[in-house]
Amino acid sequence: MKRVFSGVQPTGDLHLGNYLGALRQFVELQEDHECVYCVVDLHSITLPQDPKELRQHIYDVAALYMAIGVDAKKSTIFIQSEVKEHAELSWILTCSSYTGELSRMTQFKDKSKGNESSPAGIFCYPTLMAADILLYDTDVVPVGNDQRQHIELTRDLAIRVNNRFDKKVFVVPEGRYLKEGARVMSLDNPTSKMSKSAENQFSKIGLLDDDNKIKKSIMRATTDSEANVRFDIENKPGVSNLISIYSAFSGKSASEIESMYEGKGYGDFKKDLAEVAIESIRPIRERFYEIRKSDMLTKALDEGAEKARAIAEITMKRVKEQFGIGR
Ligand code: TYM
Repeated sequence: MKRVFSGVQPTGDLHLGNYLGALRQFVELQEDHECVYCVVDLHSITLPQDPKELRQHIYDVAALYMAIGVDAKKSTIFIQSEVKEHAELSWILTCSSYTGELSRMTQFKDKSKGNESSPAGIFCYPTLMAADILLYDTDVVPVGNDQRQHIELTRDLAIRVNNRFDKKVFVVPEGRYLKEGARVMSLDNPTSKMSKSAENQFSKIGLLDDDNKIKKSIMRATTDSEANVRFDIENKPGVSNLISIYSAFSGKSASEIESMYEGKGYGDFKKDLAEVAIESIRPIRERFYEIRKSDMLTKALDEGAEKARAIAEITMKRVKEQFGIGR
């Protein structure tokens, strides 16, 4: 069975982009893959976090994994910092990376903005992500489009190490990106991606938002003055983003949606989309609150850490032997 690995940072409430780009793949894949899903708390401290809030967010992300349908009996759910091999392999991969390639990463450039007092963790972020993936001999990594560059670097590092030792030390993973939902854009500015850190609450739809907030966010979403439901990313980015969201939720193609709303205005379209989004998110939210207060969460995380450690220890032993460290 092929192995899947993915992770989400516990840096705030998860939104529709996280769900449509990555999380919904998690559920689909667990039927015929061995899946390992991680809450990547070490990644989140590359920028300062409030410790109390961070701990709550770690539980929130794990509970959301389960609320969307990840089954802890079929898949492994665990917290990154509870498996020490992530940090260990990350260092080894940092030593196999070039400063040039790390400084060319878009995320590093965006977050550091050339500032010399940026935390070095932002610079090394991609090698920790590569360690997450390579530690589990991962075949498939379900993620949104914004992670493409990180996945490519992971592949480069795996190939580099394999070539250096002329041996298959690491499995070379593939990214898995969806056709619809791989890049959900912000509702108030459809030329930038929907982001957890955005200040305007109405720029995003949280997976824990109530029905009213979901409706308001969609009704306020930026469109254009043409009043024509047509998919055209270049000229109509706002409407195209809403069509993609509709399509990801309903399974209908963009052209089916276009013909459903021929001759109708944006009001009807937005009202229906709000209904589709509300009906899809409500069960997730309700299940989340049940899981969050039950003890099934800690049980799943305890068992998950144990299962993850068992795999990680074997990989680390092999890697250390190759590099000649330890004894
Ligand atoms: P993070 O926490 O920013 O996002 C979690 C997942 O959601 C996807 N995503 C989106 N997809 C579509 N549209 C959007 N607007 C949108 N925003 C976020 C992301 O692509 C991601 O799949 N570096 C990763 C976390 C990570 C990881 C890993 C992922 C660490 N180690 C190993 C996979 C494998 C990140 O910051 O994701």
